[in-house]
Amino acid sequence: MNPEDVKSVGVVGCGIMGSGIAEVAAKVGMKVVVVEVDEEARDRGRQAIERSLARAVERGKLEESARDEVLDRIIGSTQMSDLADSDLVVEAVTEDLETKLEVFRRLDELVRPEVVLATNTSSMPIADLAAVTKRPEKVLGMHFFNPPPVMKLLEVVRALSTSDETIAFARAVGERLGKTTVLAKDRAGFIVNMLLLPYLNSAIRMLDEGFATREDIDAGVTLGLGHPMGPLTLLDLIGLDTALHVSNVLYDEFKDPIYAPPTLLKRMVSAGYLGRKSGKGFYDY
Ligand code: 3HC
Repeated sequence: MNPEDVKSVGVVGCGIMGSGIAEVAAKVGMKVVVVEVDEEARDRGRQAIERSLARAVERGKLEESARDEVLDRIIGSTQMSDLADSDLVVEAVTEDLETKLEVFRRLDELVRPEVVLATNTSSMPIADLAAVTKRPEKVLGMHFFNPPPVMKLLEVVRALSTSDETIAFARAVGERLGKTTVLAKDRAGFIVNMLLLPYLNSAIRMLDEGFATREDIDAGVTLGLGHPMGPLTLLDLIGLDTALHVSNVLYDEFKDPIYAPPTLLKRMVSAGYLGRKSGKGFYDY
């Protein structure tokens, strides 16, 4: 399929990333079907999209009339079979390999054989997902960044089996979505998380050692390095459970201590302090 012929995108999962990806696609005129496990999750996802679009209107990025059109293009569903007519599917379910494998098996049965199946995973081996389908050359990573409507990068990730044609297709679709694409290999962390996690973990260790306060660590980075957010604020945005998971995967893959998750991060996740989404992380929300 030609990238310009993509009219309808399927998104599996309507959490932070899935809802953002659905919004991005609908904003450029594509129809979107986004599937969640139950009605509650589906409705929560739609509310997240409505909040983000309201913010875009407030910030002068979107007309009110355009907001309504964007919302009209997004259909929430609890049935994977509603993805059958998609011209591209992006999976953005929880970072659990078994769950993702099951999604890819189902998608491979449901979606037309010429359609590309992408995963938004930030850490899982894409080769494993490709291997459970009958179209391994059409499976790749399309890794968006949080929050997807604002962040301009898309990491396109080539598994060993991904064809050149699929890579070119994903890069062109990424550009249609308003993103700049970079190409990475299928190994844990790709480009950005491989650089990001050692830095975030160092900030957590610095806090835990009592070396500096959370405010000073964050101010050091925003004011001293010009980042839009300090590392502890960013961890709260990403979700501490996600950060812990990515860290564990990087450590498993490379066995290099720079990726080992700090004890404080593990304890905070055990305590349910997951950042913004749970109301408490390094800061309170
Ligand atoms: N829709 C469209 N545009 C929006 C928007 C929305 N919902 N919300 C904000 N914006 C725009 C604003 O208009 C503004 O644009 P401008 O610079 O052209 O004026 C820009 O985004 C920033 O706006 P604000 O400072 O007003 O936005 P906030 O304070 O609400 O949000 C932020 C700030 C965009 C989250 C910014 O702090 C940021 O970029 N933080 C870093 C985020 C980051 O590093 N993300 C990557 C995480 S790592 C990851 O995702 C990988 C994973 O695998 C772990």
